[in-house]
Amino acid sequence: MNPASPNAELVVTGIGQAFTGRPATTPGGDDPTLDRSTFRPELLSGVTLAAGGGRILYLGPEAGLERAVDTRAAETIEAEGRLVTPGLIDAHTHLVFAGRRHEEYALRCLGASYQEIAASGGGIRASTRAFREADLDTLLACSRLRLDALLALGTTTVEIKGGYGLATEQELKALTVAGTLAREGYQRVTATFLGAHAVPDDYQGRQDAYVDLVVEEMLPAVAEQGIARFCDVFCETGYFSVAESERILEAGRAHGLAPKIHSDEFEAIGGTELAARLGAVSADHLTAVTDSGIRALAGSRTVGVLLPGTTIFLGKTDFAPARRMLEAGVAVALATDFNPGSSTFISLPLMTTLACSQMGLHPAEAVAGVTAVAARALGLEGETGRLEPGLAADLVLWEADDYRMIPYAAGHPLVNRVVIAGRTVYTQAKGICR
Ligand code: NIG
Ligand code: FE
Repeated sequence: MNPASPNAELVVTGIGQAFTGRPATTPGGDDPTLDRSTFRPELLSGVTLAAGGGRILYLGPEAGLERAVDTRAAETIEAEGRLVTPGLIDAHTHLVFAGRRHEEYALRCLGASYQEIAASGGGIRASTRAFREADLDTLLACSRLRLDALLALGTTTVEIKGGYGLATEQELKALTVAGTLAREGYQRVTATFLGAHAVPDDYQGRQDAYVDLVVEEMLPAVAEQGIARFCDVFCETGYFSVAESERILEAGRAHGLAPKIHSDEFEAIGGTELAARLGAVSADHLTAVTDSGIRALAGSRTVGVLLPGTTIFLGKTDFAPARRMLEAGVAVALATDFNPGSSTFISLPLMTTLACSQMGLHPAEAVAGVTAVAARALGLEGETGRLEPGLAADLVLWEADDYRMIPYAAGHPLVNRVVIAGRTVYTQAKGICR
């Protein structure tokens, strides 16, 4: 052993398959279905991973381990041939909310649309009334329970949007909750300011005044609070126009918040093109995206974050045209959109199933969409989302030996162990049925 080698704190041996989230360096392989995938994944078999100081130190053949790291103080986990992937990244959630909207769900099952319910005072505004009444401790306790549930499904990084307060103090309250969760270290949490999620009851008929409030009062306060990393807008008919979105996102940027957008969820009004023009980190939903929106994204660094759970939960079939987007060269991530109104789904593995079965993604594209590409949708590609020395040791061991089992085994609890920054934070041994 080289005495100057870094100290490993964790060693995972006997990995059956490592899906690293990187592209394969050698063409070919034995899976002909990959010929139609835009992503040919690097898959390593029989490898060992070592982590120390929260980072991946080594990933390669067991024979090279002792030369690369000092393993004397390391805890060793025997993977017994399991699949290991990067920790999953949910790049779009509204996880800090109060109350629930099951009555609306029942109305939708009987045929009412999301927009009709919103127009009659339900929807986001209903959640705002509940959120304003909720105290910090209740919001924190509920959010912790939700994060725990996500963890058991393999999610190690979660983006959390505000957007149910819709008043300055209330949006600061939402971000305080997100900031506390981030500090507690349940999972990696990134916070997004979404003051322009809807016009609240107290500003109905005064849309301009509400946009002024977002720009002139909320954004400076949010920037001073220092928790949010992104500024998002719901750019949609009945919510915020392209011009209003641009004003808000530019103001956010001036306050140091990188732009994100909800665009083309129901109608294409130009939000996706705006995202590309502004160099937004992501444009999300895209169910109604046009060819012009796809071209704009393909020519930009903006990641398309697709939310198939929302389509299903709203009782619709108009999934975002993921295949066309990938083939045009758009970077496609998948997320849950977890929220009380349009998607109560919390499972990223289930999102990969929907993406493969309903949107024509190859399992390789889908698993990359909840790991490496999702990291880009949060500007975290230098930090997490791939199994690569130097990046955070965020990983999932699966009760499976092949990455295609993640979308295939829809709904089964396949997570065996979750590691965040080199620390095991969840275990549930069940065994692999080969
Ligand atoms: O992403 N589209 C806007 N916002 C959420 C819905 C939030 C809600 O209905 O509470 C979404 O689907
Ligand atoms: Fe959303």
